[in-house]
Amino acid sequence: MDKPESFANRINNTKRQKSSNIVLAIDPTYEVENLFDYVCYIIDQVHNYICAIKLNFHVILPLSKIELKKITQIAHESNLQIIADLKLNDIFDTNQITIKYLSSLGFDSVIVNPFMGKISLKSTVDYAHSLNFGVISLVYMSHADAVEGYGASIVIPSDIDRSGNSKPVYQIFYDNSKSVGVDGVVVGGNRLDILKELRAIDNEGLPIYSPGIITQGGDIKTALESGSTYLIIGRAIINSDSPLNKVKDIYNLVRDLEY
Ligand code: XMP
Repeated sequence: MDKPESFANRINNTKRQKSSNIVLAIDPTYEVENLFDYVCYIIDQVHNYICAIKLNFHVILPLSKIELKKITQIAHESNLQIIADLKLNDIFDTNQITIKYLSSLGFDSVIVNPFMGKISLKSTVDYAHSLNFGVISLVYMSHADAVEGYGASIVIPSDIDRSGNSKPVYQIFYDNSKSVGVDGVVVGGNRLDILKELRAIDNEGLPIYSPGIITQGGDIKTALESGSTYLIIGRAIINSDSPLNKVKDIYNLVRDLEY
C-alpha cells in the first residue's frame, strides 16, 4: 500500500492546486457571538484563495469537540489543511496526548516551540508523523520584543566543552528543527535579515511559514523575496470590510509576483 502523504506534501499539493500560499489565521475577536457560524462563514467565503487555515486558542478553547470536528471536515471538503497554533512546548507525554486529540479532531498539524529541547522535539515529531500529522516549529516570531528570546545568543551547556562559542537562539532552533525532520518552521515575515540568512545557508531548506504580514508591518513582496514559503495572514483579511475582496487582492498580488 502507498504511504500516505505527509503534511508537508499535502499542503504543498494544495498550494500548487490552488496557486495560493496563503494560510488564513481565523482569530475572531471576543465579541463575535456565534463563533462556529462565523468560522464556517469565513471558510465558505475565502476557501478558493487559500491553502490552509490556522486556528488559535480564540477558536480551539471555546468551541466543542463536535463543532471543531465539523469545522475541520468543512475545511477538508474545501481542500484546505488545518493548522493548530498552540505553540506547544511541554514534555513529550503531554505533547503526545495533545497531538492525539488534535488529530482525532481532524487537524493536520500543530505549531510547537523548540525551546522544549531537541530530544523532546524529535520524540514529538516522530509521534506526530506516525499519525501522518505535521509539526511546524517556531524559529523567530514576528512581534517586536521576540528579539529578547529568539534573538539572544546562548551557549548550550552540552556544547561548552567543545567550543564554548555562543550562537543565536534562532539558529539553534532552526538546526534542531531541521535535524529532527519538522514539516516547516515559522519565521516572521517582517524578519527579513533572518529569512535571508536562513535561505543563504540552506537554500533548499524547510518551508518557512511567515506571520507578521500587513497588520504587524511585514510586506508580502519583500517577505517572499527574502525566503518565506507560506504567508500567514489574519486580521488584515478577517477584519476587513470584505474578507473575500481582501483575500482576492492578496491572492492576485502573490500570483503576479510568481512565487
Ligand atoms: P495577523 O492578524 O497579525 O495574524 O495577520 C497573525 C497570526 O499568526 C500568529 N502569529 C504567530 N504565530 N509565530 C506563530 O506561530 C509567530 O511569530 C507569530 N506571530 C503571529 C498570531 O497568533 C495570529 O494568529
